[in-house]
Amino acid sequence: MKRLAVFVSGGGTNLQRIADYFAPNPNVEIVCVVSNNKGAFANQRAKNLGIPLLVVEKEYYNSEMFIKRLISLDIDLIVLAGFLWLIPQGLIEAFPNKIINIHPALLPKYGGKGFYGHHVHEAVVAAHEKESGITVHYVNERYDSGDIIFQAKVALSPTDTPDDVAAKIHVLEQENFPLVIEGLLFKK
Ligand code: GRF
Repeated sequence: MKRLAVFVSGGGTNLQRIADYFAPNPNVEIVCVVSNNKGAFANQRAKNLGIPLLVVEKEYYNSEMFIKRLISLDIDLIVLAGFLWLIPQGLIEAFPNKIINIHPALLPKYGGKGFYGHHVHEAVVAAHEKESGITVHYVNERYDSGDIIFQAKVALSPTDTPDDVAAKIHVLEQENFPLVIEGLLFKK
């Protein structure tokens, strides 16, 4: 049995997709959703999916207790799916190469602090990029800068608005993210 934790801050469409994808697979379980936002719709999704939800505040998030709790859950992979807080050094050390993030652009472009959500797509459109995409990467102590695991691209048209780009990225995420996770969980 492979055990996942999914960290969220927002809408949770990626959480939903990952949960739906693995639902028929008896060898994968999302054992915990961690949210840093008590108002996130992702929290409601976790409840609807019957996944234990842990809403964290900054002090607990940065504590040894939080790390111990995650270790006690025997997690194979921590998946950041729209999670906006930096991962503490201690957590990275406790889960070496076991924390991944999905970023809605082709890193190393449009990454780093401040490049999240719509800000990313607005910057891509402002720069008249001809393509964008998604990047799945390992998480280190800096935003969006760990080793890249997977990228997928999509062509942009000159008339695309940030909303249009977001919709294209959403499709790429839904198609690819669960497959990348599955590949990591079962790689030989
Ligand atoms: C996604 O675009 C993801 O790539 C980015 O944040 C967004 C989260 O969306 N890191 P959701 O909360 O999964 O709907």
